[in-house]
Amino acid sequence: MNQIDDNTNNLPVVSLDYWSDFAKELVKFANLKPNGRILDVGTGSGTCLVAATDKLGGNCHCVGIDWNETRVSQARDKFKNIDTITAKFHTMEAINLKFEDNSFDNILCGFIGFGDSYDFEKHQLIDNAKMKEIFRVLKPEGEAAFSTWALQQDIETARGLLQRYLKLRNLKTKNQIDNLHISYSKETLDGFKLIMEDAGFKKIKISEKKFKIGYKSIEEWWETMEIVAWIMRRTLNNDSNKLLDLKKNMLPHGIANFENKGRYTFQKSVIFAYGAK
Ligand SMILES: C[S@@+](CC[C@H](N)C(=O)[O-])C[C@H]1O[C@@H](n2cnc3c(N)ncnc32)[C@H](O)[C@@H]1O
Repeated sequence: MNQIDDNTNNLPVVSLDYWSDFAKELVKFANLKPNGRILDVGTGSGTCLVAATDKLGGNCHCVGIDWNETRVSQARDKFKNIDTITAKFHTMEAINLKFEDNSFDNILCGFIGFGDSYDFEKHQLIDNAKMKEIFRVLKPEGEAAFSTWALQQDIETARGLLQRYLKLRNLKTKNQIDNLHISYSKETLDGFKLIMEDAGFKKIKISEKKFKIGYKSIEEWWETMEIVAWIMRRTLNNDSNKLLDLKKNMLPHGIANFENKGRYTFQKSVIFAYGAK
């Protein structure tokens, strides 16, 4: 039996390159203005801007920012050969955008995580400066679209296996095991709506969309989890022997329940949010 809810079979499938799939979804939601100025906050390798320029056939002026210089170089490389488009990339923090007030017609913001703005478990506002900064650089009547995680069942399963392993090998205290970070910013519809309202957004539309991802083998699942479920490496101090020990002891039975027609299938749920200034 698969552990995902009963309707899993009907969920849309995302590929291992799910960032591109979600970028396309985000852009569908974003109401982009042809020939407008678009800012992509936390651009990574520029995936959302690729989806945006595809949709607008290149009729847009794109700016991508990311606080990670390596990601900014990757984005520049990706756009190097797309010569019909003006795209500029800068190393910059979302909380301190070096743009004038009211600069952009559209803002895209995929998966930067707002756990530093709002405690999504305790339902408490922490400091909403990042969302307010995004709002500041949007033009009046400008529109912003966000995507953020609601659930990554594959990563949570990896954390569960790690917790069992730490207990088995007596490597951490119960308290440390119980409080292991989940490896991603898990957010909620209510919390996300609240931080958007607090920043000043109007006409907010927000919804959660469920998808499924299928890994063709245990090995493929594990290789992906070694990267994205970063808490495994961090907790085990990058010790490859311990990671191998974890793998040997916890797999395959640890994910056997997720096997469905030859694929290991997990739910990924994303919150898509839209707001206008
Ligand atoms: C998970 S990636 C997603 C990339 C892309 N937006 C997408 O949807 O595929 C998140 C990116 O946001 C960047 N990021 C996270 N917080 C940021 C911040 N406060 N300021 C600037 N960039 C940030 C990270 O460096 C990373 O490249």
